[in-house]
Amino acid sequence: MLEAKEFIEMSLELNLFFTRIIKEHMIFTEISLPIKESHLILEADNMKISFESLLKETTDLARGNISKKAIESREFVTPYTLDAEVKFESLFGACINKNITKEQLNFPYMEEASIHDHHLEEQVYDLNSRIMNLLMDVIKYSEDIIANVADCQLAIFIYPEMLDHLLRETKFYMELLLDLQDKKVPKKKIIEKQIFWNHIMEDHAEFIRGLLDPSEEELMKMANRFAEMFEKLLKETKEADKKDIERVTEKNLKAARELMEFKKDSTEGLLKCEIKGILNPLLADHVLREANRYIRLLKEYLKEDRK
Ligand SMILES: [Fe+2]
Ligand SMILES: [Fe+2]
Repeated sequence: MLEAKEFIEMSLELNLFFTRIIKEHMIFTEISLPIKESHLILEADNMKISFESLLKETTDLARGNISKKAIESREFVTPYTLDAEVKFESLFGACINKNITKEQLNFPYMEEASIHDHHLEEQVYDLNSRIMNLLMDVIKYSEDIIANVADCQLAIFIYPEMLDHLLRETKFYMELLLDLQDKKVPKKKIIEKQIFWNHIMEDHAEFIRGLLDPSEEELMKMANRFAEMFEKLLKETKEADKKDIERVTEKNLKAARELMEFKKDSTEGLLKCEIKGILNPLLADHVLREANRYIRLLKEYLKEDRK
């Protein structure tokens, strides 16, 4: 059973990370659909607006109520997020509320001694419920798109594998929220989480490889090496038994840090217009934040393990 303080902190940190992620999935979807699919574009835009307002609401509730290490992990915003949003907006015309990002760049964290009132716990519970309702809409929408693309009834400039990847992230978020609403410590074991995130990291390397211009041979090779590295790590993590957990976790952490550096350089290169391809800086920053969240998870586990 979770204490009120843990429930509030875990929920707010989860929502701060994932409402932005889902909002961006909707943005990437809407700019990748052909004009004739205007109803789908509009639907994605409406869900983007909903998740943006949930992100704003979470941001307001999270002031002073989340941990310093969560803020420092750069899983919510990175030093590139704001510039990437500005660039993305000017390139694609999708509206993004950048004030939320500015606010999160100067976020106050929780003092150790802070006490939460009952009212905040209720507000967070209500926020989680509303997010879960909207996530169901996102899941339904994504499943329809995936089915129509598979039947060749719909064109979209997102790889089918990436559509599946976005849906997996949405469902993962939903499962974590379901546990939190029961005031339970999320059921997923550390190894299950590492299997999930290793697969995500492998996909990211493959997507970067596939979205680079063919002339970017060096970067393509690097992305390919990361894809192969995470494919192996995924297999190793799946096969790990109890006594291997710490060793595998350390290996995954080392690899995730290397991939994070590669994503950081890619985001910087795209913002400086030094990399050719069809990859946009907001997508690069998005996958960078996902790596940062994974790194925090691994670091926290290793620390706890040594207590
Ligand atoms: Fe994502
Ligand atoms: Fe992802």
